[in-house]
Amino acid sequence: MLNVDFVSESLENRTVLWLEQTDSTMLDAARLADGGCPSGTVVGAEEQTAGQGRHGRGWLSGKEEGLYFSTVLRLPLQPAQQPMVTMAVGLAVAEAITSTTGIPVDLRWPNDILVGDRKLCGILVQQHNSALVCGIGINVNQEAFPQELAPIATSLLLSSGRRLAREPILIEALRAMDRHLDILVNQGTEAILQLFTAASSYVSGRRVVVEQGDTLLRGTTAGLDASGFLLLRHDDGSQTLILAGGVRPE
Ligand code: BTN
Repeated sequence: MLNVDFVSESLENRTVLWLEQTDSTMLDAARLADGGCPSGTVVGAEEQTAGQGRHGRGWLSGKEEGLYFSTVLRLPLQPAQQPMVTMAVGLAVAEAITSTTGIPVDLRWPNDILVGDRKLCGILVQQHNSALVCGIGINVNQEAFPQELAPIATSLLLSSGRRLAREPILIEALRAMDRHLDILVNQGTEAILQLFTAASSYVSGRRVVVEQGDTLLRGTTAGLDASGFLLLRHDDGSQTLILAGGVRPE
């Protein structure tokens, strides 16, 4: 079991709840939000039986293998800025992973953290009444993945050959989230767009395939627009603005 007392003591003024098992910390966080919990409240679990991923997919959440947690956020943002929360949190968690483990990571717009081309961490932000619930799943000590995920997923253990304590990563992730969300609130969208563009190899000049419903779009990424959407330049010179994820290398 993760040492939640150590985590709480390291993060003053913050409630951190840690469960042995839950269906999804997204649902726990939504319930806490309904109960009026303060912004920054964290709920995590050792194991999720119905972990949620983006686009209705699941999130593999084996016992004590990864970090699975959600935070409740109440931020003074315009509705148009809310997609930027995903990017700010991605930047924060990427920074925390590298600073605590030394493992270099990449960001795949809008919300995946990768080692090389394999996914290490996913972020899911959902509106819940007046709050946002931000869920983060980091693959830490998984030794293997099921066959269908094995070619596209990784863990910190698989990437580095080292079994890692989860507490320092969680503490640093929560601290870095505070810093990056402050940048978003106080300096605005443009500041996060610049940081994301600098940190992600996917924003510009990358050949990709993008799933848009049943359609596959191909092209080269050509930067983010002022709202944080991804520009895709096709080989005929035309451009498509990509509003939601599904980006992968060609
Ligand atoms: C993605 O599909 O990339 C997003 C994955 C988000 C997974 C995390 S694990 C903690 C939180 N609880 C969930 O059920 N999902 C998120």
